[in-house]
Amino acid sequence: MSKAAVKKATPGRTAPKKTTRTSSPVRHRARRYTDVVVPDLSGRRALVTGASDGIGLGLAERLARAGAELVLPVRNPAKGEAAVARLRAAVPDAVVGTRPLDLASLDSVAALADDLLADGRPIDLLVANAGVMTPPTRHTTADGFELQLGTNHLGHMALVGLLLPLLRSSGPGTSGPSTSGFSTSDGRPGARVTTMSSAAARFGVIDWADLNSERAYSPVRAYNFSKLAQLMFALELDRRSRAHGWGIVSNAAHPGTTYTGLYAAGPALGTGTGTSAGEPPRMDAVMRRLLGLGVMVQPVEMGILPALQAVTDVTAQGGTFYGPDGVGHFTGSSAPQRVYRAATDEAAASRLWDVSENLTGVRFPDGPVG
Ligand SMILES: NC(=O)c1ccc[n+]([C@@H]2O[C@H](COP(=O)([O-])OP(=O)(O)OC[C@H]3O[C@@H](n4cnc5c(N)ncnc54)[C@H](OP(=O)(O)O)[C@@H]3O)[C@@H](O)[C@H]2O)c1
Repeated sequence: MSKAAVKKATPGRTAPKKTTRTSSPVRHRARRYTDVVVPDLSGRRALVTGASDGIGLGLAERLARAGAELVLPVRNPAKGEAAVARLRAAVPDAVVGTRPLDLASLDSVAALADDLLADGRPIDLLVANAGVMTPPTRHTTADGFELQLGTNHLGHMALVGLLLPLLRSSGPGTSGPSTSGFSTSDGRPGARVTTMSSAAARFGVIDWADLNSERAYSPVRAYNFSKLAQLMFALELDRRSRAHGWGIVSNAAHPGTTYTGLYAAGPALGTGTGTSAGEPPRMDAVMRRLLGLGVMVQPVEMGILPALQAVTDVTAQGGTFYGPDGVGHFTGSSAPQRVYRAATDEAAASRLWDVSENLTGVRFPDGPVG
């Protein structure tokens, strides 16, 4: 990251900060970044998927520090409890609870939504962060979708669709509209939905004839497509919300290259049950080395910044894509960045929305809702 980037005074951010050791299990070269100012989130309910590890856990900690009540849906109860213990150790007064969620099962998504709808409590922030990356062989979800498409895109889209009533009922914060973080600088109030995409979305291609990689499977191509689909979903959700007055501000983020368990998940996909147990893949070793050298890989405390800004910063906009501001967007402080060309095709985004609704059976309203 350039010194200029470090020094600039951006609204909604604090002064440059020197990083300390992170929760990452390896040393990394200390570097400076501009932190995100998180408004007071007391009285706000935040749902973060994938918070049992990595970026989601880092995000959860920052939201808890700001006073948000956390709902953390997790697929692995033991990892979820360990994450809660870490959060409570870091933020003793954190209000946090886990719920079961396997995004690779639409039944599980529906069960979580039913559970939360029964609570009837508004959801003010939702970060669709959980994800799987490049399983070497084709896996499918419980509903038969290619695993990355099903987990990263379809599961999250279904979750947001089913939770729409709770997102729509998000009201002004206890700290008032000027600091609540839920009026964007263009004056739009409403719950924030931030979807975690990836720089990989830039290379995403939609193969309309083979969305589920049934004819041919490439781990990277399927991941790129899933991340493009997520980016397109985030932007389309914002367009539809604006058009129909759903009262939701939707945007997207990516964490550059952040050292997390994603690179060690390997064929076991992070479940700890597969062939990678005790044998981290080579990719993980490379990432650790680059992190240690401070080259192109950043620690979690930096990787969370784009999503943190997107979901909380009072200056953050709907329909915007946040990423690290360093060269190549691998590392750095958070900043809005240009949406990749592949994700700017609004006709394709609308078509993908309709196809995704048909695949999941979860339909958003066709127009305004009462
Ligand atoms: N790290 C990067 O450099 C990078 C770059 C671009 C984009 N991203 C994106 O950032 C997001 C977070 O990744 P990360 O790096 O923090 O990875 P991570 O440390 O592996 O965390 C992934 C999280 O997703 C959860 N998850 C996976 N499959 C799930 C399922 N079926 N149902 C519910 N939860 C599930 C995992 O749960 P378990 O704890 O049970 O495994 C874990 O909490 C992902 O969407 C990823 O694609 C990361």
